[in-house]
Amino acid sequence: MINLQESLDIINREIQTIQYPQNPAGLYEPIAYLLAMKGKKIRPALTLLACNLYRDDVETAIRPALAWEIFHNFTLMHDDVMDKADLRRGQPTVHKKWNENAAILSGDATLILSYVFMTDSAMENLKPLLDLFSTTAAEICEGQQYDMEFERRTDVSEQEYIEMIRLKTAVMFGACFKTGAIIGGADKKDLQNLYDFGINLGIAFQIKDDLLDVYGNPGVFGKKTGGDILCNKKTYLLINALNRADKPERENLLHWLGRNDNPQEKIIVVRNIYDRLAIPDIANASIQVFYEKALMAFHAISVSESRKEILKDVAKDIIEREF
Ligand code: IPE
Ligand code: IPE
Ligand code: MG
Ligand code: MG
Ligand code: MG
Repeated sequence: MINLQESLDIINREIQTIQYPQNPAGLYEPIAYLLAMKGKKIRPALTLLACNLYRDDVETAIRPALAWEIFHNFTLMHDDVMDKADLRRGQPTVHKKWNENAAILSGDATLILSYVFMTDSAMENLKPLLDLFSTTAAEICEGQQYDMEFERRTDVSEQEYIEMIRLKTAVMFGACFKTGAIIGGADKKDLQNLYDFGINLGIAFQIKDDLLDVYGNPGVFGKKTGGDILCNKKTYLLINALNRADKPERENLLHWLGRNDNPQEKIIVVRNIYDRLAIPDIANASIQVFYEKALMAFHAISVSESRKEILKDVAKDIIEREF
């Protein structure tokens, strides 16, 4: 069996072998730039580890696993434009280093590249893998659309939020696991359990990302903290703050949501409100709830406990991460 580090080594080695066309350099340089950065590469690693539950040789899962990492990078290239983010993985985002048109078109080319990698799989798996890939990609666009629409609302419910992050983030985790399991030859029940494991882990992952966006150490997190506050993102933190604040506190929060004239002050004021309402504790409790749901689905997978240990530890690392 391979552990997390070994699967990351495989992924990193494979990324280094990607050959990009030389011209036009302006199209391909941003792709190589983003993929070469120090991301966690957790999604393709999950694909390999899921495959490894069912078979020792994960070779045939490598290209499809990479497809997910490439696809993830495509979503980030566009997401950083949409979220007006200047920093990604500790370096300037593509639209900052180049420009928005570069992020749009290189993002499109990244999406196409991800399909090239996904189609590099055995004939008998091609149809299920491509169906999963397309369905998941469409769901992620839906999630991103809700994320943007919610910026302009102040009445987003927790339920709407969870559905939004299920779509924008969690379905990719589910799909990464399922991709590995399809290639590994898992039965239908296990495919569903692994998918559910990924959905719940992905929801916990995104709530943690929301938390780190406010409380993370910028040097470690690699993104500018406070970005969600400035965009009025309806994160788990903001929704709970709006729901739990008393009338004057809620009015103050709404007042600051309407202000864009003093970004530094806005971040501080909103963070102080979160602190007063103990929002980090509430977010952490919710992460724990979804993590436990994830474990329940994982528990139902019909693979020996000893084979499952590595993936179980990785799930814990994911929710305890600091970046
Ligand atoms: C960022 O994903 C997008 C979210 C869903 C929060 P990661 O936090 O996995 O980013 P990288 O790939 O490690 O940089
Ligand atoms: C990212 O959500 C989801 C997708 C890119 C599909 P975020 O906007 O929270 O991700 P970060 O924080 O920029 O990485
Ligand atoms: Mg976003
Ligand atoms: Mg973003
Ligand atoms: Mg975020």
